[in-house]
Amino acid sequence: MRQRLTQPRESGPHARLMRNERFLIRRSAGPYSELARRAAAALATAARTAALLAILTSTASAQAPVPAASSRAAPPSPSSAPVVHAVPARQPCHAVSPQACAAAHALGRGVNLGNALDAPREGDWGLTLHPELLDRAARHFHTVRLPVRWSNHASADAQARIDEAFARRVDAAVDRLLAAGAWVILDLHHYTQLTGGAGATRHPREFAVDEAVVEARMVNLWRQIAARYRDRSPRLLFELLNEPQGTGEEPANEPKGASTNGDPTPQRAATARPLGGERWNRLAARALAAVRETNPERVVLIGPDDWNHPRGLARLRLPADRHLIVTIHSYDPFDFTHQAVPWRQPVLPRGVGCCDDAQRQTLREALDTATAWSRTQGVPLYLGEFGAYREAPMPARAAYARLVREEAEARGIGWAWWEFASDFSPVWDSEQGRWVEPIRRALGVGGNPRPRKD
Ligand code: BGC
Repeated sequence: MRQRLTQPRESGPHARLMRNERFLIRRSAGPYSELARRAAAALATAARTAALLAILTSTASAQAPVPAASSRAAPPSPSSAPVVHAVPARQPCHAVSPQACAAAHALGRGVNLGNALDAPREGDWGLTLHPELLDRAARHFHTVRLPVRWSNHASADAQARIDEAFARRVDAAVDRLLAAGAWVILDLHHYTQLTGGAGATRHPREFAVDEAVVEARMVNLWRQIAARYRDRSPRLLFELLNEPQGTGEEPANEPKGASTNGDPTPQRAATARPLGGERWNRLAARALAAVRETNPERVVLIGPDDWNHPRGLARLRLPADRHLIVTIHSYDPFDFTHQAVPWRQPVLPRGVGCCDDAQRQTLREALDTATAWSRTQGVPLYLGEFGAYREAPMPARAAYARLVREEAEARGIGWAWWEFASDFSPVWDSEQGRWVEPIRRALGVGGNPRPRKD
C-alpha cells in the first residue's frame, strides 16, 4: 500500500535549512416539575436549533447556488462570475441532527489555510497568517479549514496546557474568518507523536512526548480548545484529528518514524505504531466527549484512519452523537498528486499527467466507497483535502482540480483545496499577490468576493 507522508516542502530563502529540519447539565421534585422541565428543555432546544438554522440559511443564501449538473459542464468561470458556494446535491442525513445536515450542505467550496499554524512554529514553512491573507481566503471561499499544530504549543505532560500566546494567534485567525462570514473548520494537525507511522518522524522543533500520555494529551487539548471557543458562532466546526495514519493492523514492533526525508538527524515518533482501527475509534470517542462537556451541539468532523482515505471508513465506528460530519481526503491518483514531493521516499517520478480513464476510475471509486458508506450510515461527508503538488504539469493539475471538484459537488459534498497560499498547490500566489489562474478557474472561485463586514 502506498503511503503518503505529511510533511510539505518549505519554500523561500530558508528552504534547504527547513527541509533538513522537517520530519516530520437538574432538579426534579415530582412529575409536574419534571413535565415542566422537559417542556422548558424542549423549548430551549427548539430555540437553539431555530437560531442555528437561521444562521445556516442566511449564510447559505448569501451565496448564489449553481446546480451541480451545470457546474459539471460549465466552462472555466471568468473572473467576473459570481462566487458559487452552495452545493445543491443532497447527502444522506438520517443519523444526524438538522444542524449537522445543514452545515454539511453549507460548507460548499473551501480552502485549507495550510502550512501556517500547522508548521512547527508559525512562519517555519514560509507562511504567516496576516490579516489580508485571512480576509482573502474568507471572502472568496465559503469555508476555511484552519490546520493547527496545537500539540507543539502545549505542555508535554498529560495535561497538555496550551500556550496562551499561541492560542491568541489562533483566536485572531478564527475570529477574523468568522467575522468575514466564512465557515471555519478548526482541526488538530500534525500531532506526529500520536498519529505515528513512517510519516510521523518528529520534527527537530518538536519535543518528545511520553507514549503513555499521547492520547490523554489529545483529549485534554480538545477539552481546552472546546472550552475556549464554546461561545463562538455555530459556523465554527471542530475536526478532531487530521489523518490518523494507521489501520490498526500494523505489527506492534513496526519501526517508528524512519529517516524518510533525508533529515541528517532523524528523530523518532513517540508512538510504537500508527494510530488506526479500534484505538482511533476509542480515542475519537474520548476526545468528542471532552468537546461535548462545553459544546453539546457544535458540529464536529471525524475522519477515518489510513490518512482519512475512504478505504478507512470500513473501520470507523462513530460515537453515538448526532452532530457529526465525516471528513475524507482524496489524493488519488497518488502517483500524480504526490509526484516529486521531496518528503516521500522513494521520490515519485515527475511528469505524470492527469486524468485518463483509469485515473478517473481510481478517483471515483474512492469517492463512491465514501458515498456508499454515507448512505448506509446516514452521516454526511466532507472532503477536507485534495490537491496536486506543484511539480506536476499545470494543465494536469487544473484538470485534476476541476475533476475532483465536480465529482464532489455531483455527490453534494463540500470540499477544501489543499492549500491556499503555500507551496504544495497554492491557489493564491502570496509573493506576486495574485491568483494562480488555472487553479482558481478549475475550482470555480475568486469571482465576486463576499462583501467585507468590517
Ligand atoms: C498535510 C500536508 C501535506 C498535504 C499533502 C496534508 O494533510 O498536512 O503537510 O502537504 O496533506 O500531502
